[in-house]
Amino acid sequence: MTHARAHPNIALVKYWGKQDKPGNLPATPNLSITLDNLATDTVVSTHHQDEVWLNQKQVADQKIFRFLEELRSEFELAPIRIETSNNFPTGAGLASSASGFAALICAINQHADLGLNADLMSDWARRGSASAARSLFGGYVALVPPLWRAQPIAPASHWPLKTVVAITNETQKSISSSEGMERSRLTSDFYTPWLRGAGDDFAAAFDAINNKDFAALAEIAELSCLKMHSVMLTSLPTLSYWNPATLACMDAVRELRNQGTPVFFTVDAGPQVKAVCEPQHETRVSEVLTQVPGVIRTITCGLGNAAHIVEP
Ligand code: DP6
Repeated sequence: MTHARAHPNIALVKYWGKQDKPGNLPATPNLSITLDNLATDTVVSTHHQDEVWLNQKQVADQKIFRFLEELRSEFELAPIRIETSNNFPTGAGLASSASGFAALICAINQHADLGLNADLMSDWARRGSASAARSLFGGYVALVPPLWRAQPIAPASHWPLKTVVAITNETQKSISSSEGMERSRLTSDFYTPWLRGAGDDFAAAFDAINNKDFAALAEIAELSCLKMHSVMLTSLPTLSYWNPATLACMDAVRELRNQGTPVFFTVDAGPQVKAVCEPQHETRVSEVLTQVPGVIRTITCGLGNAAHIVEP
């Protein structure tokens, strides 16, 4: 029995769209921070058949079954039982597939003695879900060509930012990211400009992180998020992951900033808002977001560490 833990990550420069070739390769470079207080715990054990249990319920997760099939095309892997649980809402725009596939490959690697290093685990995690490649590492992480294996670009200690996650709806989204981004690629007029701008956005965020330039990072991260949502909204049929509370939280973050609190928001394929700030502003940001009508609760996270094995 092997137990692995991985943390979700949130992209500050987003991935939304895949290359038209095998390997689940993002169309654009992207960059994230790994969060500490949210976690996926995955236990893998030998079993007479493959089984997947998610949050104590057996599920027929086709993404995981396809992933196991692909692994078996390269490695000996006897049937396994996978028990995975998240300490946060699953499939609701909080990157549960990122921490999920990162924890899964980490557990299988140890359980079946595959001998993969973190680079190769990142490669495999990406095939399960591209954002998962980034959750193999802690701190600030980039997912870039040509190999599309994630690379840590700075440790958490470089610049220990905080993220206040405002939960506005705990239910699972109806359109997965994979399906949504494919729809965008095929139908949004904004998709090509989105691809064209991504390299510059990535470079600007990379520099801002290196220089710990909060205002520069805030500007580029919000812009990348809003460009991605513009692509989503202009897809046919439209993809709208926001609810009124999402918009109210975005306004509250802008208002805080206007009043002098350095903070920025980012939103993924779901209605939750993540507000990023320096540690001294965390309490104020969390107080304000908790008061926004429609916010169910907030969770504050620091920067998390890499996916790892949890010793019994
Ligand atoms: C909006 O990694 O979940 O969170 O590779 O198809 O599994 P697949 O997609 P996924 O997409 C993440 C999209 C995002 C932005 C991001 O994390 O970069």
